[in-house]
Amino acid sequence: MKATAIAPANIAFIKYWGKKDEKLRLPINGSVSMNLSNLTTTTTVEFSASLESDSITINKQKDARDERRVIKHLDRIRKLASKDIKAKVVTENNFPTATGLSSSASGFAALSVAGAKAAGLELSERELSILARQGSGSACRSIPAGFVEWLDGDTSKESYSITIHPPGWWDIVDIVAVVARDKKDISTTQGHKLADTSPFFQTRLAKIGEKIIGVKKAIRERDFAEFGEIIEAEALELHAIMITSRPSLLYWLPGTIQVMKAVKKGREESLQAYFTVNTGQDIHIICEREKTDEVVNRLKKISEVKDIIINKPAQGARLSNKHLF
Ligand code: PMV
Repeated sequence: MKATAIAPANIAFIKYWGKKDEKLRLPINGSVSMNLSNLTTTTTVEFSASLESDSITINKQKDARDERRVIKHLDRIRKLASKDIKAKVVTENNFPTATGLSSSASGFAALSVAGAKAAGLELSERELSILARQGSGSACRSIPAGFVEWLDGDTSKESYSITIHPPGWWDIVDIVAVVARDKKDISTTQGHKLADTSPFFQTRLAKIGEKIIGVKKAIRERDFAEFGEIIEAEALELHAIMITSRPSLLYWLPGTIQVMKAVKKGREESLQAYFTVNTGQDIHIICEREKTDEVVNRLKKISEVKDIIINKPAQGARLSNKHLF
């Protein structure tokens, strides 16, 4: 059977960085995110007894490393479905891959939903989130809708994501400033392993529970200034950990810093906007919807900004009947 799914990338307001179980991808802490309406992956999967091997095409290309990761995920689905047949997978992102825009989150969420359906499984949202997590941690947050929390469980069954508010809860936007289209040289999977080599990592962990409570309260009360202060400080903390790990991870480019400075300057001039960054050079600016044009106009004046993508809070991964083959 053939099935297709569309899944959004998500932006973490409180980040997942470091694991307590490498193999099961159990994070060392919980995290909070929002799904992004204009950064999506579409994936079609077909299991067929006539295939001799798995065939994987990602963005019209073949890449051995990505292919192995997809096949490992197909193996998880085959095991759940007690099936031993090969699959054809075609997947397409509508945005740059591996530049820090969470293509693995949307990618593994879409693969989980399409793959499970194509294998004849009827999984609950929770089961899909657990499955997606094993492909790429942050993918478990792209399964439920809207504003999402990845619960800090100690076992695989307890480590999954839930909706804390639906997409329409808060009219905020995430404006992505693409500053380069180069792929990052250190993958996130490698990066997580370095987290605890930073002398500041334990300090981060001591405060993270409080921060999660704080950001959820700010979202619940739609307190934008409080929310922005928390998420920007969190992004800088994540990068402080990465910069001080051994070896050190430095993902920012000059354009990333120019955008940070422009956002801070905007606030001095009463433009309420805050930034956040993941593992990569591209940067997300969050503001209330009515401030979008003003933020975009400022970004357009920065020569390093190559592209701008505007996202609303979005629904989670879902099936589609628009197959890619
Ligand atoms: O899911 P991964 O292994 O790609 O890790 C995501 C890590 C960050 O993007 C930096 C933070 C996050 O929570 O999304």
